[in-house]
Amino acid sequence: MTVILGIESSCDETSAAVVVDGKEIRSNVVSSQIDIHAQYGGVFPEIASRAHIEQIYPVVEQALQQADLILDSVDAVAVTRGPGLAGSLVVGVNMAKGLSIGRRLPIIGVNHLEGHIYSLWLAGPEYRFLPDDTPVNATGESLLIEFPVIVLVVSGGHTELVLMTDHGRYERLGGTLDDAAGEAFDKVGRLLGLPYPGGPSIQAAAGKGDPAAFDFPRVWLKSNQGERNYNFSFSGLKTAVLRTLQAMIPGYQLDQPLPPDFPVADLAASFQAAVVDVLVGKTVRAAKEFDAKEIFVAGGVSANAALRATMITRAGRPVRVPPLSLCTDNAAMIAAAGYHRFKAGQTDAPDFDVRPTWPLTEIS
Ligand code: KG4
Ligand code: ZN
Repeated sequence: MTVILGIESSCDETSAAVVVDGKEIRSNVVSSQIDIHAQYGGVFPEIASRAHIEQIYPVVEQALQQADLILDSVDAVAVTRGPGLAGSLVVGVNMAKGLSIGRRLPIIGVNHLEGHIYSLWLAGPEYRFLPDDTPVNATGESLLIEFPVIVLVVSGGHTELVLMTDHGRYERLGGTLDDAAGEAFDKVGRLLGLPYPGGPSIQAAAGKGDPAAFDFPRVWLKSNQGERNYNFSFSGLKTAVLRTLQAMIPGYQLDQPLPPDFPVADLAASFQAAVVDVLVGKTVRAAKEFDAKEIFVAGGVSANAALRATMITRAGRPVRVPPLSLCTDNAAMIAAAGYHRFKAGQTDAPDFDVRPTWPLTEIS
């Protein structure tokens, strides 16, 4: 039995978790700062670091308590080393280093995106869907993951399309050239006067709207040779929503209250449909091109019901999504990724620094 203590503090969630053998979650404590940052409409880095400092110790203690474990039973500490906000990462990394040095525990600095990917190893068989939307329920089957898989990582900070050929081996096919998918949700949520974060708010509003009401652009992007590539761009879509508001409301100003009876639901649904179309279209094309056994969707935006449903319908192969509790940032996924690195003998010397920018391809 291998017990990993995971620690995550890359953005606005302070989290600690205990995961056994890379798949069994004994505890996963997440202290979110959403309420603190909501008034700014986004994450305020300096305030985030301070909140992490206040939360990190009680969160780690709670994770051990809930797992009914003492530190002596932990085999290794896995901590998010990057990418993320430098001042936030430092808090988790210093906590992990303290435990590692004080208790002579091996330490593993985990890439946050790899953490999101390994949230799929924590998903039970009920999170693997076939194209007709039936979950596959064979016991234990979900953990037998065959490579290659195509992974779409979509969060507030990242939109990455990755070919995963083995544990820890990634080939980047493309990513966003401007806004991340979650960032687009957050910015359009603000335009539509919806509460922060925009992702869940837009999903809720879209439920009452018509996705065909507004014809927003799908940006497919072509290379110089005229071939479609695997990159994404969402800033034009955000601008299209803004232009629509400006055309409908004379003298429109950002953050002004929208008129009563304004078609927020239709705008939200049409925007969401445009994002989902492009995310699913490119992911499914990559899965075909590389003959992927499965498609994985991970990161905060993978919580989106329309994205999940559309991906499952169009994939032509099984689709695996994390349980909702593991879509947004959490330490269980960091512990799961750390477990695979620990098993491969890839521990770090405890003098490593944080890496605010750290492409997934640089860890292969
Ligand atoms: O993975 P995450 O917690 O943080 C980063 O690593 O960035 O992702 C947060 C992002 C936010 O942009 C949020 O709006 C988005 O995930 N999100 C969603 C949904 N739930 C969270 N986007 C669309 N639909 C959702 N249901
Ligand atoms: Zn994340």
